[in-house]
Amino acid sequence: MNLKYIIVCSYLLWGNFAISQVHLPTDYLSAQFHRERREAFRKLMPINSVAIFFSNPVQNRSNDVDYIFHQDPNLYYLTGYKEPNGILVLFSEPQQVDDKEVDEVLFVQDRDPKMEQWTGYRLGAASAEEKLGLQLAFTNKEFLIDKIDFSNYTKILLSKPNGAYTDNMSDGADSYDLFAYFLSKVNSITSIPKSQSNPDIPQPESSDVIIDSELLREMVARLREIKTEEEMQLMRKAIKIAAIAQREVMKAMHPDMSETEIQGIHEYIYKKYGSEAVGYPSIVGAGANGCVLHYIENNKTRVGNDLVLMDIGAEYHGYSADVTRTIPANGRFTAAQRTIYNLVLKAQNAAIAESVVGNDFSDLENASRSIINQGLMELGIIKEEEDGRLFYPHSVGHYLGLDVHDVSLKGKFKPNMVITVEPGIYIPEGSDCDPKWHGIAVRIEDDIHITEKGPVNLSVDAPRTVEEIEAEMKQSSVLNQLILPDLKTN
Ligand code: GLY
Ligand code: MN
Ligand code: MN
Repeated sequence: MNLKYIIVCSYLLWGNFAISQVHLPTDYLSAQFHRERREAFRKLMPINSVAIFFSNPVQNRSNDVDYIFHQDPNLYYLTGYKEPNGILVLFSEPQQVDDKEVDEVLFVQDRDPKMEQWTGYRLGAASAEEKLGLQLAFTNKEFLIDKIDFSNYTKILLSKPNGAYTDNMSDGADSYDLFAYFLSKVNSITSIPKSQSNPDIPQPESSDVIIDSELLREMVARLREIKTEEEMQLMRKAIKIAAIAQREVMKAMHPDMSETEIQGIHEYIYKKYGSEAVGYPSIVGAGANGCVLHYIENNKTRVGNDLVLMDIGAEYHGYSADVTRTIPANGRFTAAQRTIYNLVLKAQNAAIAESVVGNDFSDLENASRSIINQGLMELGIIKEEEDGRLFYPHSVGHYLGLDVHDVSLKGKFKPNMVITVEPGIYIPEGSDCDPKWHGIAVRIEDDIHITEKGPVNLSVDAPRTVEEIEAEMKQSSVLNQLILPDLKTN
């Protein structure tokens, strides 16, 4: 190797490093946030217990293409680590690990220049300590050599992996191997067959040690259901992005659009603002497609004069929005559409008013359901109150956070919880009512911050009343000036 070659290589490596470190978002959750969350978690741990969290599985899409990796929200919440094949171990009391006394250890993928050339930068153990602020970090291979003796504890709190791990045969310390090793240790099983990609979570044979996933779920929910100010900033941003996209789509929408194109405009605006992903698959349903609550085909080629139900959520640094607007593609509600829309809006307003400290979801359910049932009876769409569920078949809302349907203790509302309020009425074709209602589907969904001073609607940037929506739809959009050539492919 001559000197010139070495200089060129060093320059290229240095250049890549420099490029990868500039122009990055600066508003990630801080190392201090994650450290404080770990401290709060440890305070909830039973004496002489250990908690273990695994990275999410890498899911294969087909052949050599994987789905985009999404970190396990608990592991992300407690560390900020975003890579696969990691493990977080927390101890209720400080433990001697190697020659250090610590109450936490993170195991991470090793640096690997060859792999990093294909799939990107890896943090590695040294940077995990330095950048994430973990007391101790090892490479994941070191988990496989008995760094932690699980028989020392009376309780093992296991964060259940989201889905099954499959073995990457070219990686001897992927999550499959790590999880199988963990199971073999705690279950006194010496080996797990490689073909067994979905091992059940065991109870160990020794009655002295208990594996408890339910307690861990509750402990994490107790923390995650209350958002810190740092989390609120990210949630406000995710929700504002989603709401602005709803507003822009209102300006751009016309009857010749397809559901796919409408989805694309939302998601383009998300990207424009730096949202990395959608928190769940986008729902864009015209007319009766809106009656399918989680309709994600979004493949109707022309929305025509129908109502278009758009339930979409930008994800920003892991936090998801969840905002639904239902608008007439041609800019004007028909009398029937307006009647159903205003009934849902009235129910939503009543439920939002109930979104206060000390209430719970049953208060929102009662408020919204009684208005919708009453309204449907007056319109002759149902004859008995109980039939309201036929047309309002889902619950009024849910908690929102790192998961769109976020974890919670399902108790009374407390300050700094974030919930959705999303009543709807869906009248499929052929329903037993006047055909003028057929094919009308309306959901209105807003994201509400519970505060001591009352509910704060975080998605107000998206017009919500009939008058606001019709006025917004009269505005012009620069997107309509985007004239593309016809796709002639033969
Ligand atoms: N987007 C799913 C939901 O509203 O719950
Ligand atoms: Mn939704
Ligand atoms: Mn929702």
